[in-house]
Amino acid sequence: MPVSRHLIALSAAACLAAGLAAAPATAEPRPRTLAELAEKHHKYFGSATDNPEFTDAAYLKLLGGEFGQTTPGNAMKWETTEPRRGVFDFTAAEEVMAFAKAHHQKVRGHTLVWHNQLPAWLTGRSWTAGELRAVLKNHIQTEVRHFKGRVIHWDVVNEAFNEDGTYRESLFYKTLGPGYIADALRWAHEVDPHAKLYLNDYNVDGVNAKSDAYYKLIKQLKADGVPVEGFGLQGHLALQYGFPAGVQENIQRFADLGVEVAVTELDIRVNLPATPEKLATQAAWYADYVKACLVVRKCVGVTIWDYTDKYSWIPSVFPGEGAALPYDENLTPKPAYHAIRKVLGG
Ligand code: G3I
Repeated sequence: MPVSRHLIALSAAACLAAGLAAAPATAEPRPRTLAELAEKHHKYFGSATDNPEFTDAAYLKLLGGEFGQTTPGNAMKWETTEPRRGVFDFTAAEEVMAFAKAHHQKVRGHTLVWHNQLPAWLTGRSWTAGELRAVLKNHIQTEVRHFKGRVIHWDVVNEAFNEDGTYRESLFYKTLGPGYIADALRWAHEVDPHAKLYLNDYNVDGVNAKSDAYYKLIKQLKADGVPVEGFGLQGHLALQYGFPAGVQENIQRFADLGVEVAVTELDIRVNLPATPEKLATQAAWYADYVKACLVVRKCVGVTIWDYTDKYSWIPSVFPGEGAALPYDENLTPKPAYHAIRKVLGG
């Protein structure tokens, strides 16, 4: 053997003996996922999902790989889970639950009482207060019992207030009065005392008339011993309206009331086309919102309302707007993704 080859062989043998030769020199450590980065702050970082997306393998790889929590975007809503009175169907929700379990993801339950996506059998006739109470109690308790021990939070009542802080005139409010909220929380708690019970709404990110209404309500519910344990800030923002004032202050005041806070449906839409300038502003907003949660101990996590523009709800509801999520339609990370990583310490 020539001397040089002999030396290489000898040094390779020495490395092997020292246990150093296994990793090739080019190997880089795997970058931490958003879930792992958030965990270091004792928070989760999650994404909503929806059943039609479960045929998209590339989508699922990222959903399962990057996120530590998921929320079914539609599968747990009343029209899906109780399509006929007293007949429950959890098939779609179980599909999401199975995926979450396989990927060690926490699940937020969304949502038990909402004025939207109700089945026709419920909205198509009038009810006496007694009848509707029985229907509501049965719906809540059957669904909560079904998922008992498997969801960390329930959005028990979703979107109960108008922008000016008055109660939304939903079927439940009109028939049962404002007490339906306390009843719903109590009924859910009876069945699963370990799931944290949330009220959840949009346009409550900062301090305003609507978040003031929740502040007053939650204070009263707690004084009355009603099991309310969390407040969800949906966080559907739009660049044209400006970043809401006082997000951190708002999160902190709810924490000080003794409830935890979660950012439950974050997305930040822009008027299309999305220019590099708009995406840079969007990235800064994502970072600022996530940071507001990070600095408050009782803010437990952030969920984005799906993670890719490919499956965002925005374009169908706000024509001409979109590009609201941290990954584009080709599942490529946008500036917002990198800004979130950075603020999480990645
Ligand atoms: O299920 C039907 C399907 O049978 C039909 O073929 C199809 C045709 O359009 O529509 C399907 O229903 C759609 C449903 O999502 C399920 O995919 C509805 O049209 C569509 O309006 C509905 O949108 C959902 C929206 O809530 C409805 O309120 C979005 O996916 C969902 O992301 C969105 O989520 C809400 C949160 O629950 C509460 N906060 C606001 C947030 C955004 O609106």
